[in-house]
Amino acid sequence: MPDPERPSPAELLHLRGRTLEKGEPVAPPLTLASMFHLPGDPAGFASYGRSDNPTWEATEKMLGHLEGAGAVLFPSGMAAIAAPFLAFLSAGDRVLLPSDGYYTTRLLADRILARLGVTFDRRPTAGFAEGGFAGYRLVFVESPSNPGLELCDIADVAAGVRAAGGLTVVDNTTMTPFGQRPLDLGADIVVASDTKAPGGHSDILMGHVASRDPGIVAAVKEWRKLSGSIPGPFEAWLLHRSLETLELRFDRMCRTAGIVAERLAAHPAVRGGRYPGLPADPAHNLAARQMLRPGFLIGLTLASGAAADAFIAACRFLRPATSFGGVHSSAERRDRWGDAVAPGFVRLAIGCEPAEELWAALDEALSAAG
Ligand SMILES: Cc1ncc(COP(=O)(O)O)c(C=O)c1O
Repeated sequence: MPDPERPSPAELLHLRGRTLEKGEPVAPPLTLASMFHLPGDPAGFASYGRSDNPTWEATEKMLGHLEGAGAVLFPSGMAAIAAPFLAFLSAGDRVLLPSDGYYTTRLLADRILARLGVTFDRRPTAGFAEGGFAGYRLVFVESPSNPGLELCDIADVAAGVRAAGGLTVVDNTTMTPFGQRPLDLGADIVVASDTKAPGGHSDILMGHVASRDPGIVAAVKEWRKLSGSIPGPFEAWLLHRSLETLELRFDRMCRTAGIVAERLAAHPAVRGGRYPGLPADPAHNLAARQMLRPGFLIGLTLASGAAADAFIAACRFLRPATSFGGVHSSAERRDRWGDAVAPGFVRLAIGCEPAEELWAALDEALSAAG
């Protein structure tokens, strides 16, 4: 029996097939359309390419199944993150952000939204609930945070925010719905970059917003239509294709990450690390409670920035790249963007290479880098 708390990967693969008429293609067609044939009363019909597209809808159906919610597709993770801010905030509202999450979210707040009269406070993800949530219209959570992989108790935060009359928005990019289900934990809204593991091949940008509140879904759709922040149908089609293998890829990535993280923790070149799946990780107990899988990102600290650069350059199975979640493992020294991490901190994103081949390459490169 499928677990109601978890999306069924088998159902996901047959969502479209079960709706087909005889002779229709099993794979969804890519529909490129700005105009729709629309004589007479337009109500209830696809009308214009900024509000309707059957390829988006096919992909949103899959994302909706994964989230157990209504899903609205956006052309990038940042477009998805911006949507609830711009759909729900007014001048005078206060918002709480993580101080150690994805930095572009903070830049959006500081450079754009603060000008519109919204006030932003920041707190570290570990201990996010300390200080309470009174007075916040919206509380934005990222757990595990990118890049530090800190966690906060999403259920606890969501309950506190709800009691204080605010909305909880969780950026679930680092986990995907196969790894963590913030809406099950009480969040009002999930936002995610599908550029990462859901896209999975490092060739598209895409994002989505999901909520179980139909009023929220309608307001986010209206924001998308009025702002024109719409995904391209081809990218939506590629994401549809990628979602069909997300469970397979995510499973491989998490399994390999578990093996690699354990070995890294024992490696003489490694000075420190974070991986919520390791029992020694400070957030392990919380991770075991609220995450379905420990994920594919590993935080790894080497002796210096130079050692980290040398490690990344020496490893034949690591792409030196920003971003993560592709089939090819990648790594980045996050200090190069000014993140508040040690100079030798590397965000390692495990891909789909077989674990032993990847480990041999990582081990060799770590030894070479000293
Ligand atoms: C946690 C997190 N949220 C959001 C984003 C933004 O996604 P996109 O680049 O698709 O706009 C990223 C990108 O790295 C991210 O890591």
